[in-house]
Amino acid sequence: MTLTRPAGSLVGLDRFASPADFPDSPYAQALRQPVLLGLFLPIQAGGWSASTLPRTTDWRWPYNRDLVLKAESLGFDLVFALSQWLPKGGYGGVFDGHALDSFQTMAALTAVTQRILLVSTIHVLYGPLHPLHLAKWGATLDHISGGRWGINVVTGHRAVEHEAFGWDRIEHDRRYALTAEFIEVLQRLWTGDEPFSFEGESSWRLNNAFVTPKPVYGRPLLVNATGSDAGISFAARYSDVVFITSPGASDFASAIELLPAHAARVKQAAREQGREIRTLLNPMVVSRETEQETRAYYDAIVAHQDVRTPDGFHTLNSDAHAWRGRAGLDGANRRAIGGNIEVVGTPEQVVEQFVALKRAGIDGLQLSFFDFKPDLAFFGDRILPLMKQAGLRL
Ligand SMILES: Cc1cc2nc3c(=O)[nH]c(=O)nc-3n(C[C@H](O)[C@H](O)[C@H](O)COP(=O)(O)O)c2cc1C
Repeated sequence: MTLTRPAGSLVGLDRFASPADFPDSPYAQALRQPVLLGLFLPIQAGGWSASTLPRTTDWRWPYNRDLVLKAESLGFDLVFALSQWLPKGGYGGVFDGHALDSFQTMAALTAVTQRILLVSTIHVLYGPLHPLHLAKWGATLDHISGGRWGINVVTGHRAVEHEAFGWDRIEHDRRYALTAEFIEVLQRLWTGDEPFSFEGESSWRLNNAFVTPKPVYGRPLLVNATGSDAGISFAARYSDVVFITSPGASDFASAIELLPAHAARVKQAAREQGREIRTLLNPMVVSRETEQETRAYYDAIVAHQDVRTPDGFHTLNSDAHAWRGRAGLDGANRRAIGGNIEVVGTPEQVVEQFVALKRAGIDGLQLSFFDFKPDLAFFGDRILPLMKQAGLRL
């Protein structure tokens, strides 16, 4: 393994090893799959769909635990959950704000799962959270899970969330600079053999800080979700996986046109840092046995569009770049369905679209469903076998 010093490294360490560098790590093993397969858990009310069509989807622990156990039994590689700190009432309607905490939900899942990677979305700037806290908590979860726990690093794009923590929203690119400082120090704590002192731009300091045990495989998996230049540059330097969206609208035709250049750009940015990065996308899968049944299901979700949450995830004064292409392109129909892109059709048509996404440079599919429990079961029975036939899964 060649170690290179990243430009502008804050803590003066060589490039930190990735769990991908350890062939026995759960992440390295998952990378043997032609396409990584993930589930985006609905630990928040409403999941991703602004629709009141009756469904089982539930933010509570038993529901999400059972989904993860099912996903693990189907051979999924990873699960994620989002993190939000919304004001009272959430985005309104079905997105009423009830949500489990992503970090703690994944922590609980370490103890009831065996093989699947568990990625906690964490706002590292809120609090402020001290990197020594997260280094210790992360090392603990890494050991409990046998190297299966990771972080989806988020900087917080909604003004109301920063305000809830008692300050005005930190400027977009500065958030990434502060997050870089946090992540470099975190990695230093996870890998360094000596006590470590640090004073930087953040409000926290370290004085002879040390964490042991060290993570099992270098450090936990690092992911970030972004669409901006600053976020991509951050991903290129620190992340193993970057969670991307279609730079255009969420319909499949628009996404497949724009994704190849976007995915190539992200991977090239990492290569320029001497690193490899994988792209992960979040399709909302709407599928039934026949085209007619699929259309009826899709139309029913849209017919129950929840007008109490007209803008869904786009509200509450976000400055995210990731969904900018979206605002003028996606109508309320699309928000009733949700997800970052729509993959709609019969099992065969879904797999054709997955194949096209892989060709477009997508390394991982992080799936969402409208009605998670039955739709995941349908996916396991009807779609997954076809993914195997198509060479997308071993
Ligand atoms: C697929 C995806 C998932 C995300 N999940 C979360 C999340 O759970 N919580 C959150 O606060 N932000 C989330 N974000 C927002 C990003 O973390 C980021 O703040 C936002 O995209 C703004 O950064 P950007 O301008 O670099 O895109 C997500 C973004 C994407 C693309």
